[in-house]
Amino acid sequence: MKTVNIDLGKRSYPIYIGSHLLDKSALVNKHLHSNQVMVVTNETIAPLYLARVMDALKAPVTETVILPDGEIYKNMQSVNRIFDALMDLRFSRNATLIALGGGVIGDTVGFAAACYQRGISFIQIPTTLLAQVDSSVGGKTGVNHPKGKNMIGAFYQPQCVIADTQVLATLDDRQFRAGIAEVVKYGLIRDADFFCWVEKNMETLLARDDDALAFAIERSCINKADVVAEDERESGLRAILNFGHTFGHAIETGTGYGEYLHGEAVAIGMCQAADLSMRLGWLQPEEVERIEKLISRAGLPASPPESLDSDRFLELMAVDKKNIDGKLRLILLEAIGHAALPQPVPIEHLQATLSEYGR
Ligand code: NAD
Ligand code: GLY
Repeated sequence: MKTVNIDLGKRSYPIYIGSHLLDKSALVNKHLHSNQVMVVTNETIAPLYLARVMDALKAPVTETVILPDGEIYKNMQSVNRIFDALMDLRFSRNATLIALGGGVIGDTVGFAAACYQRGISFIQIPTTLLAQVDSSVGGKTGVNHPKGKNMIGAFYQPQCVIADTQVLATLDDRQFRAGIAEVVKYGLIRDADFFCWVEKNMETLLARDDDALAFAIERSCINKADVVAEDERESGLRAILNFGHTFGHAIETGTGYGEYLHGEAVAIGMCQAADLSMRLGWLQPEEVERIEKLISRAGLPASPPESLDSDRFLELMAVDKKNIDGKLRLILLEAIGHAALPQPVPIEHLQATLSEYGR
């Protein structure tokens, strides 16, 4: 088993990474503060993994909440279902919530934990690759509002993260590849050696080899932990974790949520951001090709849908949270392995990138 520590003073915590960790009961039990534990998961994951987690827990008062599956349930109704269960059982401030699932469950449960009695402990057991390398780490929790994604939330760190590589075996191929996009992102933004490693090991990763997965998750988490330790509340550096996301969010919104998985849209966005970095004279054309080739080898899309033309892209990108005073600001690459902080981009270069991608 590998352990990555996330260094946040009193709020520091370990991320455990390895195969069959769900059965290692000592791991989860040492992070409980009382005998009141509630596991929250969804209808897809419950039949696969809930019994194993329940067997591992030693707490006498262990309850479960099983939510419906899907991004549309990442909302206040789900949070209220968790509050209702906690209240019905008279769970106290020393209770612990366990999030067993992908990013939707992790974000929802983390937010419920942040709010119940002004904050109770929670543990993340992420079951998708995206959740193991990104959403379970760093303390961003929250739910969607009908008027905007992730608009209601809190920064709230878990007690620990338990990333069991073996649970990824049941994840469908498309979801798995979407997680690979975020792995590639870490190499691009701050770890050139890791980018080279992913280039050499893409096929092994896609075969879900346990050792390759554990290495990729560990290295991704080390990179995320370093960034979060420096800028927990995203007042600066943490924005680089959103590399490719401004283009990606435009694709997700412009095509209607659901057509592209988040990781797929980010994969395309990273190719577009690389192309734009080249137009600023930062990346060489061969490097842009290298990035596109790796994204394609992961079975991820590298160019946007035909339905989105340049004007629509610009309109959608204008609402990004990184923009200031109406000026579009993007995260670009100075080199493979080195992202620059968000900055304004000359519109003619951006238009050239959008045209390059054919529309
Ligand atoms: P998800 O949670 O919807 O999971 C994807 C699908 O896989 C679901 O149907 C789920 O039930 C199923 N699943 C999960 N684990 C499985 C397993 N082991 N075997 C079989 N099926 C399994 O999606 P996701 O990609 O994990 O997370 C996306 C969410 O994460 C979004 O809401 C996004 O906003 C959020 N997110 C948050 C952060 C953050 O920092 N908090 C970062 C990135 C994304
Ligand atoms: N997923 C981006 C962040 O955690 O900041």
